[in-house]
Amino acid sequence: MNSLNSSVSEIELPQIHDPRGDLTFVEGGNHVPFSIARVYYLYNVPVDAERGGHAHRELEQVVFALSGSFRMKVDDGFSKTEYWLRDPRRGLHIKNMIWREMDSFSQGAVCMVLASHPYDESDYYRDYGEFQQALRAGS
Ligand code: TYD
Repeated sequence: MNSLNSSVSEIELPQIHDPRGDLTFVEGGNHVPFSIARVYYLYNVPVDAERGGHAHRELEQVVFALSGSFRMKVDDGFSKTEYWLRDPRRGLHIKNMIWREMDSFSQGAVCMVLASHPYDESDYYRDYGEFQQALRAGS
């Protein structure tokens, strides 16, 4: 059984503070506990948009608000919690088999996601009932 505490955790990246502007970097297998196979980002998100609404069979991700803020709701089928992402240094590591929904995007927010695998639609659960059924079958 997945525990929400062991499946969702915050990651803090290094920051090189500089009066010319701050710099943050991320290395797969070091700051992020998997090899980074894909990077994607959400932008031009309307403030009333809802994103996500799915879980992944195998995929792990680390999600950042590079600019602005948004809410990430996570659910392991047994308990739910939410995080506000607003700091480009602080990512949310979400392991597989976690249902996630994102909303309350600020104007101009940019969400960057580091992913452990290339895009594969067959890795998605897009139906919450199917996700719950898979959890019950696996536990
Ligand atoms: P989706 O993962 O549902 O977006 P979000 O969780 O951010 O709301 O993906 C939206 C659409 O984009 C869907 O048709 C699949 C496609 N897509 C890709 O083609 N490649 C990708 O790497 C991602 C993340 C999505």
